This record gives sequence, C-alpha cells and structure tokens, in this order.
Amino acid sequence: MRAAAFRLPKAELHVHIEGTFEPELIFALAERNRVALPYASVDALRRAYQFTDLQSFLGLYYAAMNVLRTERDFAELAHAYFARAREQGVVHAEIFFDPQAHTARGVAFETVIDGLWSAVRESEQRYGITSKLIMCFLRDQSAESALVTLEQALPYGERIVAVGLDSAEVGNPPSKFQRIFERALAEGWKTVAHAGEEGPPAYVWEALDLLQVSRVDHGVRSLEDPRLVARLRDERIPLTVCPLSNVKLRVVDTLRDHPLARMLGERLIATVNSDDPAYFGGYVGDNFAAVADALDLPPSALVTLARNSFEAAFVDAPTRAAYLARLAVASTSAPAAASPATVVDEA
Ligand code: ADE
Ligand code: ZN
Repeated sequence: MRAAAFRLPKAELHVHIEGTFEPELIFALAERNRVALPYASVDALRRAYQFTDLQSFLGLYYAAMNVLRTERDFAELAHAYFARAREQGVVHAEIFFDPQAHTARGVAFETVIDGLWSAVRESEQRYGITSKLIMCFLRDQSAESALVTLEQALPYGERIVAVGLDSAEVGNPPSKFQRIFERALAEGWKTVAHAGEEGPPAYVWEALDLLQVSRVDHGVRSLEDPRLVARLRDERIPLTVCPLSNVKLRVVDTLRDHPLARMLGERLIATVNSDDPAYFGGYVGDNFAAVADALDLPPSALVTLARNSFEAAFVDAPTRAAYLARLAVASTSAPAAASPATVVDEA
C-alpha cells in the first residue's frame, strides 16, 4: 500500500510553503543570515514539535520563518519542497504562501514571490512538476492589512491562481474578509479558505456564501452538519483534507478516528494533502499511506483520492485530462512495471 501511495501521480492542493521548512534548513539559513535561534540544535528544535492545537503550532511556525530573509532563501525553501514532492508522486502542486508573515518583518513582497517563482519554474523544467501559487491572507490580521497585501500582489497576478485564508480560525470568521475576496474575484483570482478545521460548520457556510470559494481547505467539521454535507456533495465542492495535520493539531484524537472514509462514503470530493509536512510528520505520499493504513482503505480509494486531486486542481481541461490519463495508466499497471510518477529528467 505504501508503494502505491507514493507511486500514484497526484496533485497536492494544500501545502504551506513555510510549513515545508525542515529544521536542518532553518538552522542553515539562520547561520547564513546571522539570526539567533532560541534552540541549541536541530534535535532540540524538532523536540519542540509537540502541539496541543492550531495556535500552539502557529507560534513556532511564525518564529521559524523569521530566518527567511532573501530571495535565495525563498527559492531554496521551495526547491527543497519540490525535491521531496517529486519522490512522493506529486506531478502538480498549488502552494500556499503567507506574504504578511514576511512583509511584517520588513521583507519585500517581491523578494518572497520572486524567490518562490524561480523555484516554480525550475521544478517544472527539472522534474516536470507544474505548480501555481495561492496567496493566503492571515485571518488574525485586519482586513485592511489583507487589502494592502492584495494590492502588492497585483503586478504578479499571473503567478497567483487563487487567494486563500489561513492562520488562527476561531474568532476570525470568513465574513471578516468578504470585501477583500470580492475584490480578488474581480481581479480574476479564484478563492479558497481554511474553514471547519477548528472552526464550526457555520464558517464553511460563510466561506461558500460570502467568499465564493471553489474549494474548502480542511472542512473536516462539515460532517457535523448534514445540510452542509449535502451542499458540498451537490455542488461538488472539493475539500483539501490533511490527515496527519489533523492528528498533530488534535482536530482528531488518532488517525483511526479520522473522518476521511466517511467523507468518501458521503461522495464528497475529498483530497489528501500534507499542510505543513516539516512539522506534522510527513509529506503527501506519507499522508496517503498513513491514512490508508489507519482506516484500512482499499487500493481503489487511493486511486479515487488521486483522481479527486486532479478534479479539484485549478488547471484547464486539457491539462486535467492529461493528468487523469496518466493516473489511469499508473493505476492499472502492475507496481513493478510502472514507471515512477514524476520522473521527467533524471539529471
Ligand atoms: N497556516 C499553516 N498551517 C495552517 C493550518 N493548518 N491552519 C491554519 N493556518 C495555517
Ligand atoms: Zn493549511
């Protein structure tokens, strides 16, 4: 099962680039940029990855980012993600970034986006992985701050496929950002939002009604509301689910309690993703393998999840068809005979 989890070509639709910042790279960039870290070693930092909820994670997540200063830093961060993603069967990625977490520290918006973009282009050439950026607004910041960020992004509109909403959910409902999202839609961007991770089903309704989201990020608490489940199913709104994240942040007690199988049983367009893989114990293939094992999912469910990832991706119809065809080949060929999903250029 683990081999299939990695081998199947898939799109990753919920990964925060700042959440792919591995401790070794945090230390390397801290040294290069002469920034002091409050941890004596990589192991000491890793030992601090014990979270009780979303907020306890976010504190460390934002603190670690403080060592990201230059365009080269952002490029290296994204390069490291793509190298790992390739090993996990990712052929397409839609990657969140949190500009306000950097501009608030005096790092220019263009430093962030130029660094990330150079890695996007290089990974397409080297690995054949296509990718797009999703700019997230920090929902615990003001709507005015989000608007400043949106305006900073306008010259880079082509690099950004959608805007999203992340950070501390409870107390920061989607309605706070309705005006900003209306503007983003008018600029031609799609919209997504984290909703129903720690927040109630009402936040998912707001994301749909007020922010006009094309996908819901997490959305696991949607299952508490049968009318919401029916709407997500009827309107075919995908959910970007992150099983290992949900365990680490105690949204569920254990992976065995995860509602992914129920979501598939309800015929929701559920996808599996890594969220913040450097912090939560695994990249997307690891998430596929772990949840399949814990929930005893049949191999066909892994294929459904990979298919859903392409159905939910922000790509044009021919690109979607090409990825689905590639998945069909990979899912019918014997594992030993199948070629690695992502290898385009071995050099
Ligand atoms: N930012 C990074 N990871 C997040 C998560 N799981 N929820 C909300 N905001 C985040
Ligand atoms: Zn997330």
